[in-house]
Amino acid sequence: MTNAITQSEVEEFRNRTPGCAGRIHLNNAGASLMTETVVATQIGYLELEADIGGYEAAEARADDIESVYGSCAGLVGAERHQIALVENATVAWLQAFHSVRLTRELGEGHTIITSEADYGANFVAYLHARDHFGTETVVAPCDESGAVDVDALAGLIDDRTALIAITHAPTNGGLVNPAAEIGAVAADAGVPYLLDACQTVGQMAIDVEAIGCDFLSATGRKYIRGPRGTGFLFVSDAMLDRMQPAMLDHHGASWTAVDSYRIRPDARRYENWEFNYAAVLGLGRAADEALAIGLDRIEHRVVELARSLRNRLTAAGFPVYDLGRRRCGLVTTAIDGHPADEVEAELARRGINISVSAPESTLVDSTRRKLPPLLRLSVHYYNTDAELDRAVNALVDIAATR
Ligand SMILES: Cc1ncc(COP(=O)(O)O)c(C=O)c1O
Repeated sequence: MTNAITQSEVEEFRNRTPGCAGRIHLNNAGASLMTETVVATQIGYLELEADIGGYEAAEARADDIESVYGSCAGLVGAERHQIALVENATVAWLQAFHSVRLTRELGEGHTIITSEADYGANFVAYLHARDHFGTETVVAPCDESGAVDVDALAGLIDDRTALIAITHAPTNGGLVNPAAEIGAVAADAGVPYLLDACQTVGQMAIDVEAIGCDFLSATGRKYIRGPRGTGFLFVSDAMLDRMQPAMLDHHGASWTAVDSYRIRPDARRYENWEFNYAAVLGLGRAADEALAIGLDRIEHRVVELARSLRNRLTAAGFPVYDLGRRRCGLVTTAIDGHPADEVEAELARRGINISVSAPESTLVDSTRRKLPPLLRLSVHYYNTDAELDRAVNALVDIAATR
């Protein structure tokens, strides 16, 4: 039984989040609000850089920078040496994807199995790989709940299958795919498994061992509540033994002689030399704050808030587009006859942040379901029931206007 986040804790979290004072922030799947300590961590570090110099600041705070790897590892049940810090989830994902390609395990005649609601950036990479390297992408169908049908996915695997790449929770709704069941199938078949966990890390407990993924990509600014321009990649020990990055510099490898180099043994081979250390430290601080609250407790509250938001929307007569048996904090709806971008702008005028999920961000899923641009209201643990009421009342009000 999860020890639920209490109302007084919510008050405290909100007091420590300056953005909660002026707006209702329901765009946590876009970028969550940072806490004042995450902001202060970054400002403090920038001031140190200004005072003593950028290289000197990194030297002075080397231990704190090093500990960020442990904090990110803690979010996904990994070990420090399995984490690479990068600029965002897309860079993390592309590093993993092209690494499999470079190692010639993904090339001419090979197939990639993916999910219907996979992210736009990933699909563009599949098409790019098709055009340049002769790979083929196979989309695993959904079960009746809308999640990846694990048995059907298993049936698609053959000796051409080089990679299983699945999005844990898509950008366009609350669906959580059965990542661990897919991991068991991938392990059975001996196929590398890349999990896009961009929308889930920070809003639920994730254990890369239990899931059985070989790579996992994450971003800092969404549910972790870190700064923009941060992300990380988890790489399993098996992949560290087998894979090399498609792009390598003198940080990922040491230049050992004029004509030779040696690749690092750890996941940092997927990094490059230069970092925005202020943002890195902000990410570490945000990860520590999530770990201190407890990811199970965060998930419990996020799921409850999202469920009650869906109920409120349904009761007010709005459609809810979220799929899956297991759902997370992303909630999608639409107002008939009201373009989504106009609703978003009107809500912003009323101090309510949401975002629009365009069909192009998940083209396979949105084509199959004939989805319009969706209003995406994404909750985090610091949101309140009163905020949900105000947001739904504003939607009712907007729907009544012509
Ligand atoms: C499922 C999914 N994957 C990947 C990304 C890309 O993340 P980033 O912008 O950090 O590269 C997003 C962003 O919305 C996403 O929703």
